[in-house]
Amino acid sequence: MSDIRTLGEFIVEKQSDFPHASGELSSLLGSIKLAAKIVNREINKAGLVDITGSVGGQNVQGEDQQKLDVYANDKFKAALEARDQVCGVASEEEDEAVAFNKELNRNAKYVVLMDPLDGSSNIDVNVSVGTIFSIYRRVSPVGTPPTEEDFLQPGHQQVAAGYIIYGSSTMLVYTTGNGVHGFTYDPSLGVFCLSHENMRIPKDGRIYSINEGNYIRFPLGVKKYIKFCQENVPEDDRPYTSRYIGSLVADFHRNLLKGGLYLYPSTATHPSGKLRLLYECNPMAFLIEQAGGLASDGQNRIMDLKPTELHQRVPFFVGSTNMVRKVESFLEMYPDQE
Ligand code: AHG
Ligand code: MN
Ligand code: MN
Repeated sequence: MSDIRTLGEFIVEKQSDFPHASGELSSLLGSIKLAAKIVNREINKAGLVDITGSVGGQNVQGEDQQKLDVYANDKFKAALEARDQVCGVASEEEDEAVAFNKELNRNAKYVVLMDPLDGSSNIDVNVSVGTIFSIYRRVSPVGTPPTEEDFLQPGHQQVAAGYIIYGSSTMLVYTTGNGVHGFTYDPSLGVFCLSHENMRIPKDGRIYSINEGNYIRFPLGVKKYIKFCQENVPEDDRPYTSRYIGSLVADFHRNLLKGGLYLYPSTATHPSGKLRLLYECNPMAFLIEQAGGLASDGQNRIMDLKPTELHQRVPFFVGSTNMVRKVESFLEMYPDQE
């Protein structure tokens, strides 16, 4: 019993790690924890939808049912607004950034960017999904509504980032720039318990994760890299293993624990790839660097990119350091013909 450290206790314990600690960031993380529990409860019931009424239709009480990504968006937004530490949020589910209007919120120091439900196409088939979040200190003056500049900060300015994975267990994994820590949810206690302190990704890995169905549209360097992964070179532990869930959070989580590389490159039809810089790639980049790995767009460090739009996409290569370096070298060696 005495060995159990809850997320709440851990956050308070680590509060002094922040240069300007005053409990606000701890309170903010507490609101994310609360929303995660609510969304977890709903996701666990997702399979019952066929019995109790279909999503988008009406439930047995005759109430309209929301899609889970809209539900998750609403719950995270409400939890973040309620604690008064956040002046605004940007979300995959919102076209524009949302400013919180209460005076207490206008006086808040932080903005949050989020993907409230990542991997949503996996919900219907009982496969892991997630939530991703990214936290910045605002650059606009306290007391005013947040501005575009608050949301378009480069990833290296993040003060905290993390994800929740709703999987065979539900976990919350986060960093505030002092390592990456993972907490597993105990539904009987209703608490997240510290289960993975100071997570580190192996420098080398032998898992590659990519939607290979898009092979024909990949840049030449990525095609060559995939063939490199598949070569029979036993002394180099090749061929590697291919694993792709289709939920970034789940693919990332596995590779973080085991070592590996997640790739979502540009394609002939989507020149900037699919994933969103601000609420998918930057938070994962902060986590992976804190765990000893790397995140790249193929040439540049993800967290050094200067965002220009809220929903901008970027090619994404994230994981074990030596694997990211290797795919970068392939992209350099085999530039695409014009
Ligand atoms: P979201 O559900 O938030 O739209 O994100 C889906 C993303 C990401 O989770 C996943 O890795 C990727 O899309 C899968 O894309 P493909 O189906 O093109 O492989
Ligand atoms: Mn997503
Ligand atoms: Mn999403």
